[in-house]
Amino acid sequence: MKIYVTDPKGKEHELDAVEGWRVMEIIREYGLAIKAECGGACACATCHVYIDKKWLDKIPPKREEEEEMLDEAFEVQENSRLSCQIIFDETLNGLKVTLAKNPT
Ligand code: FES
Repeated sequence: MKIYVTDPKGKEHELDAVEGWRVMEIIREYGLAIKAECGGACACATCHVYIDKKWLDKIPPKREEEEEMLDEAFEVQENSRLSCQIIFDETLNGLKVTLAKNPT
């Protein structure tokens, strides 16, 4: 199974995805620049990604904690999500996301 991740420079990467892992963990394991400072506790918003519009319906809805963290993130769009809050499973095979830029 795969996910496709576009980095902030616009380059797309094909990543092997593991069922049961958080999308953030898959991206981090591959070595792409994702800070994920809180390690997936929904407390930092540095795992912010934009979901490809074709995939928006297939992603489980946000929980309140995620909504609240996203309120504090930068350059939030309608398709913004925290990638640590999305658990990969086979229904997401082929998912496309773009990494949001983190403020430095
Ligand atoms: S890793 Fe901190 S909110 Fe996702």
